[in-house]
Amino acid sequence: MFTRPYYRPRRLRSSLAMRRLVRETRLAPEQLVYPVFVQEGRGVRREIPSMPGQFRWSVDTLVEELAAAREDSVQAAILFGIPEASQKDGRASQAYAPDGIVCRALEEVRKALPEMLLMADVCLCEYTDHGHCGMVSEGPGGEAVVDNDASLELLAETALAYARAGAQVVAPSDMMDGRVRCIRERLDEEGLFDVAILSYAAKYASAFYGPFRDAAESAPQFGDRRSYQMDPPNVREALREILLDVEEGADMVMVKPAMPYLDVIAAARQMVEVPLAAYQVSGEYSALCAAFANGWLDRQAAVRESLLGIRRAGADIVLTYFAREAARAIRSGEWE
Ligand code: PBG
Repeated sequence: MFTRPYYRPRRLRSSLAMRRLVRETRLAPEQLVYPVFVQEGRGVRREIPSMPGQFRWSVDTLVEELAAAREDSVQAAILFGIPEASQKDGRASQAYAPDGIVCRALEEVRKALPEMLLMADVCLCEYTDHGHCGMVSEGPGGEAVVDNDASLELLAETALAYARAGAQVVAPSDMMDGRVRCIRERLDEEGLFDVAILSYAAKYASAFYGPFRDAAESAPQFGDRRSYQMDPPNVREALREILLDVEEGADMVMVKPAMPYLDVIAAARQMVEVPLAAYQVSGEYSALCAAFANGWLDRQAAVRESLLGIRRAGADIVLTYFAREAARAIRSGEWE
């Protein structure tokens, strides 16, 4: 004899209208942030080999790309700058030069697309000749070390330059201790009270940044980033990092990468009230694209599911290279 099930969860899956009614997590275009790379030149639209479908833009083509993204309902972008290789130096001077690549891009996009929310990644790795995220100096044993405190002033200077150029959000991704406070103080000194800080608070030393470093030419020339980015096995440490950044004045905090760290996102969501972002990084994007190219995964469905997973874990905001196609699909109802 069999007993008929009394409870039937399938009832709530019986039609699209029913599934929509009981949906616990929603994805909206305004929750997405589109990361973009900007370099010198004019008319540049250079595909990044390890990130198919993502490009390096010059300021003029970036304006067009973001206008198109706006048409797709993407309302926020985060800018990464790629200076000329010959302009990199030990003090990352192009990071905070008022006529540096990111400042010029911010000014132009701000003029052309005043309604776009503009964020700027604040880090030194694209601008230093050694490719580390902070200043390098000599340690006690003569070895090269990434010097936390010497980097703070340069990071604050960089954030200030971006805020002046029109960024409404500055997003430090360097992982130096104490940089959020330094940036807040510097912005406030200059009267830029309304510029928000989105801190890459729990940023792990991840293999998933590989394609980005190709794109931004920012791979470290010696050593790696494990002395300043977080160790992947740790979650309590991530919560500590997040609390510290909130205390120092971060308006929003981020966990990065996203998919391998969903537990960190969930734990962070439980702990803080500030908006929580997660960054679906280059390697997550490229791994999925490789599977799509091979016909191993269905693009639409897998992109949707990956973003939903990040939202369901607790992220309010998702930085993703899929922003344009996701926003388009959501708006057109294809993702129902
Ligand atoms: C700069 C920075 C990195 C990323 C964002 N900001 C690279 C790194 O830390 O090496 C990675 C983004 C991505 O992989 O998409 N420090």
